[in-house]
Amino acid sequence: MNIQEWLQADDLVWIAHRGAKSECPENTLPAFTRAVAMGADMIELDVRSAGDGSLIVLHDATLERTTNGQGAVSDMTLAQIRQYDAGAWFDQRFQGTVIPTLDEVLVTLPHTCLNIELKTGPAERTHALVRSVLGCIYRHGAAGRVLLSSFDHTALAAVRSLDPTIALGALFVGRLWPPFDLAETLRLDSLHPDVEHLDPQFVAQAKAQGYAVFAWTVRSKKALSLCLQAGVSGVILDDLTYKETASS
Ligand code: G3P
Ligand code: CA
Repeated sequence: MNIQEWLQADDLVWIAHRGAKSECPENTLPAFTRAVAMGADMIELDVRSAGDGSLIVLHDATLERTTNGQGAVSDMTLAQIRQYDAGAWFDQRFQGTVIPTLDEVLVTLPHTCLNIELKTGPAERTHALVRSVLGCIYRHGAAGRVLLSSFDHTALAAVRSLDPTIALGALFVGRLWPPFDLAETLRLDSLHPDVEHLDPQFVAQAKAQGYAVFAWTVRSKKALSLCLQAGVSGVILDDLTYKETASS
């Protein structure tokens, strides 16, 4: 299925948060391939710029939490970042795993739909990041299988100014106000509310206006149940075994 089909799907869309995060080190190639094997419909991943402009897949701005390195990646080259192990912190079985580039993810998963979250910094870098991400997607012919999202709505505006049709979604905490102005202005495809503040009325209105609603981050069965009751289009979740349980 292409990204537009997932955006319009009738059934709940299961989106693997940072890959199969409960079984593998987050945002790594093992986590992504495992998520596909576990039946994820789409994979969410975080993309940011290294100091040399390389596009790396990493949630945090620094290396400490998910590698054996230290420091801000914005001060490092890709070669420096690749010296560090991004797997052993999770389990020794993953020793030797490195932080992947967006390029590698697109090569490793040539058919999977990806929700690429743009992690941005200062404004001038935001525009460079957006241009670079779009360039990478186009080089791989992947525009039909990606959904770009961000908490940084200026980054979403930059995407839309450069590409009138690529799938785009706004991440937010709480509520957007006025609820649909941003979505109309930027011609968004999806809205991504946090699960703690999920409002069933907002979900219904958003879907009625043609927006997919992807809630983040489902970390418990109770949260999944709230999402199902609210009628969301999809869930961004840590544990993909919930999908097996839900369909059995
Ligand atoms: O895309 C949803 C979710 O990933 C946003 O939060 O902090 O996990 O990137 P975070
Ligand atoms: Ca994310």
